[in-house]
Amino acid sequence: MEAYPDRFCHDLPTKPLIANKILVTGATGYIGGKLVPELLARGYQVRVMVRTFTPQHQERWPGVEIAIADALEYEDLKKALKGIHCAYFLMHSLQLGKKKFKKIDTQVAINFRKAAAENNLKRIIYLGGLGDPKKSLSAHLRSRLMVAEELQKGITPVTFLRAAVIIGSGSTSYKIIKHLIQNCPVFLFPLRANSKCQPIAIRDVIKYLVGCLENAKTTGNSYDIGGQNIHTYQMMLKIQATVLGRKRIFIPSFFSTVNICARIASLFTPASFELIKSLMESCVNDVVCQNKDIIKLIPFQPLTYKEALISALSRESQKDVSCNKNEAIVIANGALEK
Ligand SMILES: NC(=O)c1ccc[n+]([C@@H]2O[C@H](COP(=O)([O-])OP(=O)(O)OC[C@H]3O[C@@H](n4cnc5c(N)ncnc54)[C@H](OP(=O)(O)O)[C@@H]3O)[C@@H](O)[C@H]2O)c1
Repeated sequence: MEAYPDRFCHDLPTKPLIANKILVTGATGYIGGKLVPELLARGYQVRVMVRTFTPQHQERWPGVEIAIADALEYEDLKKALKGIHCAYFLMHSLQLGKKKFKKIDTQVAINFRKAAAENNLKRIIYLGGLGDPKKSLSAHLRSRLMVAEELQKGITPVTFLRAAVIIGSGSTSYKIIKHLIQNCPVFLFPLRANSKCQPIAIRDVIKYLVGCLENAKTTGNSYDIGGQNIHTYQMMLKIQATVLGRKRIFIPSFFSTVNICARIASLFTPASFELIKSLMESCVNDVVCQNKDIIKLIPFQPLTYKEALISALSRESQKDVSCNKNEAIVIANGALEK
């Protein structure tokens, strides 16, 4: 049996540069957790950075170096970055709510850039959010951008990948959309809510993260990454409803429904109300790729939104033994034909 199954990068056009040690921060998070096995499968020496040690980490990543560090603790962070060639920055503090995350995420970025410089890192690869920096952005998107700006003030070249909603079984944004559709029969949708989003499948995000590491031309540059489709958020909910085989009613509303939707979603997802609200407030901004240079540097065909949803759904049905797998696959297959 393959040591690290579920590989996404088998058809990536780039080749591994295995001599170098890579640090993955946010390894306990969704994106980091998917990236680590992919790097290991490609032969990289990987160190993961986690805030607290548990034996489960060793079981999850046998043979992987584990550094215990909170990025807010500078000396610990500096030790975690020692001997590293390239570090993936995949951390955020959104769950702390709007009043706190901006300050904390900025401090984390400042610490990171300093520790990277002291350890003579060759590269940082940061995954943040899309959104036009010249426009009025939500607190969440503005904070993601500020992290990039803080990192870029240092001497270590930063590759900044900007993504909208990431679709995958463990992604908070995906889970919010899915649980809303599963649990709300009627949606009050603000009349002016017609902003556009270019969602991307987790497999494509991982391919770009690994591809950037393996293509030196991406060093120090920023790229927008997205899937094949651009949709309004209402359309995204409607497509999710089709994929799940649910009939849902959308009624135009004259007032903002963020608070109500966030409250409902927080009842059904493990994510906190604060985190959901911060993510939902970002729905007023268009999050669509402008800079498409990455397509030439790391060429492959990303999934459509519907394919990404179906892939997430079948992944969930594999994981959840209590779920009726056949039912989920039938729904998924039916949805593809629509
Ligand atoms: N998911 C999406 O839809 C999406 C879309 C666009 C961009 N992104 C970007 O992708 C990156 C990763 O997101 P994600 O969805 O994987 O997030 P996630 O699942 O919420 O994970 C966040 C990770 O950050 C770690 N972390 C937070 N503060 C830390 C600190 N002070 N020191 C050390 N570790 C810390 C957490 O560690 P603990 O386990 O200890 O809390 C966790 O591992 C973020 O930069 C995010 O902006 C995500």
